[in-house]
Amino acid sequence: MAYEMEKEILQQPEVLQNLINQYITPENNISFKLPEGIKKLKFIASGSSYHCSGMVAKIFREFANIKASYEYASEFYIAKNIFIDQNTLYIFISQSGETFDTVEALKRVKAKGGQTLCITNCIDSSLWNLCDYKILSDAGEEKSIASTKALTAQLFCLYLLMLEFLKTKGHNITTEINEIKQLPNFIDKFLKNIEQIKVAADKLSKAQNAIIIGSKYYYSIAKEGALKIKETSYLDANAYPQGEFLHGHVAVLNNKPVLIAIVVEDTKESMELILSKIFEDYTPELITISNEDSINSKAMNIKIDTKNNIFNVFATVITFQVLAFETATKLGRNVDKPLGLKKIVK
Ligand code: F6R
Repeated sequence: MAYEMEKEILQQPEVLQNLINQYITPENNISFKLPEGIKKLKFIASGSSYHCSGMVAKIFREFANIKASYEYASEFYIAKNIFIDQNTLYIFISQSGETFDTVEALKRVKAKGGQTLCITNCIDSSLWNLCDYKILSDAGEEKSIASTKALTAQLFCLYLLMLEFLKTKGHNITTEINEIKQLPNFIDKFLKNIEQIKVAADKLSKAQNAIIIGSKYYYSIAKEGALKIKETSYLDANAYPQGEFLHGHVAVLNNKPVLIAIVVEDTKESMELILSKIFEDYTPELITISNEDSINSKAMNIKIDTKNNIFNVFATVITFQVLAFETATKLGRNVDKPLGLKKIVK
């Protein structure tokens, strides 16, 4: 049986190419309409869209030196006091544009006069109609409950948004634009070479639970990976910031989960130290996901063949989508319609 989730994972190069054609002009300009004078960004969303916010807020801070924070929509809208700042752009991310928590959070910001922008896959949705500025993530209808192509489309639009902000600050973004145009091709090749991910899925399907550790925006990717595994296979999967994991949480390794570590160049030394400390007391089955070659000798490594940071971000997100899909299908789950979950579609 062909699952929608698998089809949607495989559609990602095409979705990204479509966004390039739509939003990058032949002169290499980005055709987004944005407000002027913005000093800070606040991302508000739920579920996978929230994890996208986390990735992007940290990417904005690290690559563009722009103040960016993020919050769960459900926490934002029930807070007693919210503080709206006129120099902040409030960015609402939602595949459906109809998620209750996200729409309520938007209404609170609007009621206090904040400037708003949405990234959504659904034109004419509540978010689309209420926001001052809007970007269509245009991934096409997402039928599978687990979000895959909608999330990478959001991530892509938000990366372009970051480049546009950099441009307004006087940066020349030609190199980045030329690079990002190669992303669909890279992802296409990546998706044709998923044998290692299938081996990892075999290990995961035999375990009761999974722990994923990573740092910075890779921690948000780890959280998204855990969500994808949970909602498709029902395994108990949890993510931790790599350093924080040692502060007591590590005791969950007594339950013998598979440990998945996201290893990247700038946090590799810290990860090596953490793994060596873990192996002093525990012997977890270790899977690493990395664009690096020499990883812990005890690990099965899923290699991502790129040194480009942004390509690596996309490929790591997609690695977890494939891992979740392969694990869940090995366990005989209906990945398109997980028990007890509903999707909002418009
Ligand atoms: C995860 C998933 C959910 C949604 C969440 C928000 O795969 O599908 O976690 O991401 O319910 O939905 P949207 O993005 O429509 O606001």
